[in-house]
Amino acid sequence: MARQFFITTMGCQMNEYDSDYLGQLLLDSRYEPAETPKNADLIVINTCAVREKAEQKAFSLLGRMLALKKRKPSLVLGLVGCIAQQEGSKLIKRFPGLNFVLGTREIGRLPDILTDIEIDGRKNVATDMGHRTHPPVNRPGFFKGRVKSFISIMEGCNNFCSYCIVPYVRGEEVSRPSEEILKETEHLVSEGVKEVTLLGQNVNSYHSPDNGTYRFPSLLREITQVKGLQRVRFTTSHPKDLSEDLTQCFGQLEKLCPHIHLPVQAGSDRILKLMNRRYTREKYLECIQSLRRVRPEIAITTDIIVGFPGENDEDFNMTLDLLRKIEFDNLFSFKYSDRKGTLAEKMQHKVDEEIKSERLYALQKLQKSITLKKNRGLTGTEMDILVEGVSKRGDQLTGRTGTNKIVNIDHNYNMIGRIVKVLITGAFLNSLRGKPL
Ligand code: SAH
Ligand code: SF4
Ligand code: F3S
Repeated sequence: MARQFFITTMGCQMNEYDSDYLGQLLLDSRYEPAETPKNADLIVINTCAVREKAEQKAFSLLGRMLALKKRKPSLVLGLVGCIAQQEGSKLIKRFPGLNFVLGTREIGRLPDILTDIEIDGRKNVATDMGHRTHPPVNRPGFFKGRVKSFISIMEGCNNFCSYCIVPYVRGEEVSRPSEEILKETEHLVSEGVKEVTLLGQNVNSYHSPDNGTYRFPSLLREITQVKGLQRVRFTTSHPKDLSEDLTQCFGQLEKLCPHIHLPVQAGSDRILKLMNRRYTREKYLECIQSLRRVRPEIAITTDIIVGFPGENDEDFNMTLDLLRKIEFDNLFSFKYSDRKGTLAEKMQHKVDEEIKSERLYALQKLQKSITLKKNRGLTGTEMDILVEGVSKRGDQLTGRTGTNKIVNIDHNYNMIGRIVKVLITGAFLNSLRGKPL
């Protein structure tokens, strides 16, 4: 019987993309997917290091998998991704049950490493950053049945925001050749995928490795021409690099969804400076204005960190004020946590945990009221949704608007994978209800 693998994924969409990549490599190496970790002969934990909580989650899962291995010593256990990159060989010393540790740019070596383990059981640690990102796989059949999928267009980040571990664990920015990305898009569409999200830590600094003038908007223009592809999204773009050309794309490219995730992080210039974000509150507001001018219905979402070192009440109020001014469609909010080796870790005036919690609560409360108000404003309107599948509760179908809002509609299986016009009949905090027209 073929050996079975199980991959658990934590962290951002890049990791989801990487796990799909690993899954394809394993299928090519004649492994089969296991239903549960208990049935697996190989378990891969794909980890995230962005916040303390993410790290804790990964280590607690690792603990459970190590316990599983005690009962089944033949189990091969590996840690990959951002924590693997950060901790490297220290992990093998601390957890002797681990068989391999693969850093973010080395995951493509998984099949070779499994062969090594088979030959002589040797432990492997590979965390070289010099390697280019992994070559394409495009395994036929892998994406069948999916309505939407991710495509990584670049690895790494050169920005070094003072709180952030990503540039250390994902390395220097490297863009993939545009031909490769286009081929991958065409492959996904041939598998039935209708919507792709282009991924990068800062997609707006994408530049084709062999043509300096071919930048992110050029890629968007080409991708939106791929026949059979219905929708294109991207994430994330950095406000300091939001070019006029990219803004204009929202007015020109019909398949480009009217949604942008544009992390602002804080509303006070003093904090933005300490964060090394390299834009001001004013500049951010201008970006939003231009985007709304070009595409009035555009949804804008953001990330906010509360309790960055030195953030006082006045700074925090500036963030709340920015929320009221802009009225984001939604946001992700986080309490600042120290990351080893970052500039912010060494800063003074760390904010008390209790104050961070209070600020997070106030921020989320305000945003909830804004999101709800915006969602309610949509009742009675007609919107196009791409139907993705069965809803969480299983009794309805679920889809998303171009603005990335979830809409649940009554069952009709024929609609999966199709763009359907619906009348919005109900609005909640996290979803809308619709009736197909
Ligand atoms: N490349 C993206 C986001 C990367 S990480 C960007 O530039 O926006 C995702 C989010 O995690 C960040 O936007 C930030 O809000 C949050 N984050 C990163 N480091 C953090 C830290 N040390 N503490 C709390 N939140 C953090
Ligand atoms: Fe981190 Fe900043 Fe790079 Fe985003 S742009 S990944 S927040 S360093
Ligand atoms: Fe986490 Fe690495 Fe993504 S640190 S957020 S998995 S790039």
